[in-house]
Amino acid sequence: MASSVSNVTKVDNFFSSSAARFDRWRELNAKAQTWAAGARGGKARDGRAAVEAALADVRPLEDFFAYPGARLMNTLAERIGADDSMGVARLVRRVSGSLLSGSYRHDSGLWELSDDETEVEPERLSQTFEGGESHRPYFEALFVTPAPAASVAKLAHEARRLRRAADAMIYEPVFVGSVEDAILATILNGKIQSVVIFDGIPVPSKHDVPLLRDLLTTYQHLDASSEAPLEIGITLAKMIKRIRPELDIYLMTDRNVEKLAGDPAASMIRRVFYEVEELMEVHLNILEGVADRYSTPHFDNLKKYAARPIATFHALPIARGKSIMKSNWIGDMGEFYGLNLFLAESSATTGGLDSMLEPTGNIKIAQEKFARAVGADHVFFVTNGTSTSNKMVYQAVTAPGDIVIADRNCHKSHHYGMVLSGSQPYYVEAFPMTEYSMYGAVPLRTIKQALLDLKAEGRLDRVKMITLTNCTFDGHVYNTRRVMEECLAIKPDLLFLWDEAWFGFARWSPFLRPRTGIGAAEWLHEWRETPEALKAYQAQVAELGEDLDPKDKRVLDRRLVPDPRKIRIRVYETDSVHKSMSCLRQGSIVAVKDEDYNHHVSAFREAVFIHASTSPNAQIIASLDVARRQMELEGYELVRKAIEIALAIRRAVNEHPIVSKYFTMLGADGMIPAEFRKSGFKDFLAADSNWLTALKAVKDDEFFLDPTRMTLVCGTAGFDGSSLKGLLAAKYNIQLNKTSRNSVLLQSNINNTRSDIALLIKVLLEISQDIERRLAEGGESERAAFAAKVKSLMTDVPDLPNFSRFHDGYREDPKSITLEGDMRSAFFAAYQEDDCEYLPLMSPKIDERLAKGPQMVSANFVIPYPPGFPIMVPGQVIEADTIGFMRKLDVKEIHGYNNTRGLKLIKLAAIGKGQTSAAAAKPAPERSAPRKGKAA
Ligand SMILES: Cc1ncc(COP(=O)(O)O)c(C=O)c1O
Repeated sequence: MASSVSNVTKVDNFFSSSAARFDRWRELNAKAQTWAAGARGGKARDGRAAVEAALADVRPLEDFFAYPGARLMNTLAERIGADDSMGVARLVRRVSGSLLSGSYRHDSGLWELSDDETEVEPERLSQTFEGGESHRPYFEALFVTPAPAASVAKLAHEARRLRRAADAMIYEPVFVGSVEDAILATILNGKIQSVVIFDGIPVPSKHDVPLLRDLLTTYQHLDASSEAPLEIGITLAKMIKRIRPELDIYLMTDRNVEKLAGDPAASMIRRVFYEVEELMEVHLNILEGVADRYSTPHFDNLKKYAARPIATFHALPIARGKSIMKSNWIGDMGEFYGLNLFLAESSATTGGLDSMLEPTGNIKIAQEKFARAVGADHVFFVTNGTSTSNKMVYQAVTAPGDIVIADRNCHKSHHYGMVLSGSQPYYVEAFPMTEYSMYGAVPLRTIKQALLDLKAEGRLDRVKMITLTNCTFDGHVYNTRRVMEECLAIKPDLLFLWDEAWFGFARWSPFLRPRTGIGAAEWLHEWRETPEALKAYQAQVAELGEDLDPKDKRVLDRRLVPDPRKIRIRVYETDSVHKSMSCLRQGSIVAVKDEDYNHHVSAFREAVFIHASTSPNAQIIASLDVARRQMELEGYELVRKAIEIALAIRRAVNEHPIVSKYFTMLGADGMIPAEFRKSGFKDFLAADSNWLTALKAVKDDEFFLDPTRMTLVCGTAGFDGSSLKGLLAAKYNIQLNKTSRNSVLLQSNINNTRSDIALLIKVLLEISQDIERRLAEGGESERAAFAAKVKSLMTDVPDLPNFSRFHDGYREDPKSITLEGDMRSAFFAAYQEDDCEYLPLMSPKIDERLAKGPQMVSANFVIPYPPGFPIMVPGQVIEADTIGFMRKLDVKEIHGYNNTRGLKLIKLAAIGKGQTSAAAAKPAPERSAPRKGKAA
């Protein structure tokens, strides 16, 4: 739904700023056209007042954009002043149209005062924006200068005169005069790629920005009324980097440039210039900085390779496309995909192409660029999805016998990763969302309890890694920083694997970035260098002692502080680039920010050799390279729009008078219990919410809801998730993500537009009206049937089973209160068919064994879709709640379960046979009952 002009009046309303800007121009255009029509009909006066009011709404945002710029805005005001309604209507139509289409980026005529594009001098085009056949990329550079307006106009003129026909890109300067305005421009204008900061800028904005001021005074301790301190340029650079780390920042100063350039505090500044005579240098640096992000070494080489006349004598007939293009039978594939796909196919690793397995050339550089983009030290490209990325991490950093604390709901690649590496899972449970048949995320208290139990049992040294899904499928985002801080307080060298398969885009949102694994690692690096870090730790030592007592309840209750001198920051993040960026399917990365990575260099090489195909797909690698380019140049703007669209969809559903009777989009309060939202944040749509309350929730709350992941409750409309998904796909061409018993998951991404919102709402309205009609026409019986269906979907939901335990035969110390188990031995035990038995799910024998034994031990993973997590893993003792859940499940797809034969069980007599691990060969005792893995 369009954000209406009336409810978005402040420039610091960042959650709808891009849509709001276009809406304001559209509104102004409508008013201007009405005025012009009225003038023809003699009703000019009202029309002019309406245009003036609409222009007043437009103006504040325009200070932060190059187009239409001061000149066109002044002309507009002059024409209004002169009652030239026709001139106003023409100019507004042109500006608003070119803003919407983006044509101002390559059509210099649209910047001219002339209303008639044919009047633009043709040579001006060639001198400026037009760079040959295709358009030169356009961007904006922010100049933050205390100079008076007259000098600014001169500077703008000079900056434009520096353009050369040979420049590969073109930019327009945007000028602001204060720290606050520079921050506003950075946030509001996604076209900005470079920032030039002049010394001596004042702090306060000329705009009314109460929220921003609040932010700056609270978090940055910047006093808007204060005199500008000398370091203000560096402070501003730091703040801008926090918002958009990809931007190039330059400092213009008349101070000691050599000293400034060598100051580590100024490390985020790309170049420092001596203010007076360096404009050409600045210009060239601006272009070079953006060109560096633009360059895609692997893709660029692939294009060159495809253009060369190469004869191939290797085993890849599809390369060069001749077998396809000339074929009588498969030529349509060539027509469909185009020749380039085949020209760029190669199995070569030389001749301009590089090797994925041992990159030394353009793939290596492409990986380094990706690492820079995501703030990592290293990035590995993976062409078989995050399923493989995860397994590579297990392979490289864990060994048989290591304990890994893992969310039981994590993706199957983690479970299989542990089977492969022989590490032992210690499953921890997410909080259940029983009413929607799904899980949330794992409370930190549960994770701490697991670590403390292991400490109490003397096995903390065996814990190697903690792995969590961030964000979860349904959008629960961890407080990554707090999780790592508190866990490192218990074990300072823990590794963290953040599975961010869904969350790669978050890097480009200043709201979400602090909650990514690497974003939090960056913060940890900064934090541990501060005097406050040591002070906070010492205060904790005074309270709890240096060696935390695992039995001391305060350790569990308190927010723990790690010893900043001891911790090792060891973070691995896996991203399905294909899930949230412009990358071909299966493109994924492992991003590493591990200060002890040197321990794993050779293991990682092995992991690549083990898991990567020797025939990696060049297109996937190229698209990883290109996806990185896009995100470094427009990721910020695209992600902001995806969030805006999600918020608009949420509002449109929940506020629609008919649709909201049957469907609800769950907000943070519906997805996250209040105990995990200590900031009090309820939802993005709540009346008292704004971006500052959201920011506070991001900082403080245990879980935060990714706004782009939208759970639509449909049980209230009488649909189970799968039926609604099917209906939307079959009848309306709408593809959804995941389903639950009574909900479906919608996801907005960088590909969505406002038209998609309109389509979705139209369809939901149609379905709602259909229900209304049915209920009205069907009488009492139809209404009763509908109510019964809703009740069955919304109330009669099965309890979600927790992980029970590993069979004692797969545990080193069956008496231990800890839960880890040797899943790998159980997994391989199931290969011996003679050692396994089958029991049909509905067989009374199952109930008999549950009641009287002998225990049933799962031989394999059983994963129903939905919900998609393993309700049984190899070696797990099967209990009544799991059987009850499975019997109630009405899904057709259950991986690992053979409907004809039934559950596959390991015979108890076989447990311990041929086991290689430390838990080996113990007699299988009947029913000991270690503690269950309930959330603490
Ligand atoms: C949390 C999580 N991790 C990893 C994966 C695997 O990612 P990919 O499909 O890129 O192999 C998925 C897939 O859905 C997932 O949900």
